[in-house]
Amino acid sequence: MSIQVRRTRRLSRLQNVQLFGEGYTVFGIDGPNLRWRPPRWRFLAFEDGKLVAHAGVLRQTIGVGGNPLRVAGFAGLVTVAAARGRGLARLMQDVAADFSDRRLKADFMAAFCRERLLPFYLGRRWTEVTSPAFIEQPSGTIASPLPVVYFPLRSMTWPSGTVEIRSLPW
Ligand SMILES: CC(C)(COP(=O)(O)OP(=O)(O)OC[C@H]1O[C@@H](n2cnc3c(N)ncnc32)[C@H](O)[C@@H]1OP(=O)(O)O)[C@@H](O)C(=O)NCCC(=O)NCCS
Repeated sequence: MSIQVRRTRRLSRLQNVQLFGEGYTVFGIDGPNLRWRPPRWRFLAFEDGKLVAHAGVLRQTIGVGGNPLRVAGFAGLVTVAAARGRGLARLMQDVAADFSDRRLKADFMAAFCRERLLPFYLGRRWTEVTSPAFIEQPSGTIASPLPVVYFPLRSMTWPSGTVEIRSLPW
């Protein structure tokens, strides 16, 4: 098996459907109805030329306890069904962490995560934010209906206090 990871700014319509299904059904229909922010950078994994996994990254300065914190948003993690259970999500997270650290100089990666996927993140050195977290929506600022998780990129402790994402979620 030979895996190649490429960085891109855009997905083709076909790649979108291959990864997420029509209407982003891969993330399930149980999630809250939210407006999302697309990632700025995307990492695509190909196995023998076939698209098998995706992760997105964006840059955002959030507020924690009233102070600014530079994070790299980690978004849209998906492995196509036929390629799951072989470490591709782990690989995509590592690639995104390396980029977020070296290129974006972010202190943490931060992600929004469905309840049912919390064990996946918590098993990979992510931590759930326990303070209240707020996101932006067209209707205004709302409490995040999804858990927010973070991953340290250097030896820093996540600050305490209310989290203001100051953006649509990703
Ligand atoms: C979640 C998902 C990305 C995992 O992809 P994958 O390539 O199969 O994951 P990996 O093989 O890299 O597994 C990494 C680790 O997570 C664990 N894991 C994978 N799916 C899990 C799940 N649903 N719940 C808990 N743990 C999970 C694996 O056992 C593995 O553990 P290990 O490191 O101890 O061996 C994939 O199932 C998927 O695309 N699901 C649909 C889209 C989705 O829900 N994405 C997440 C958005 S937050």
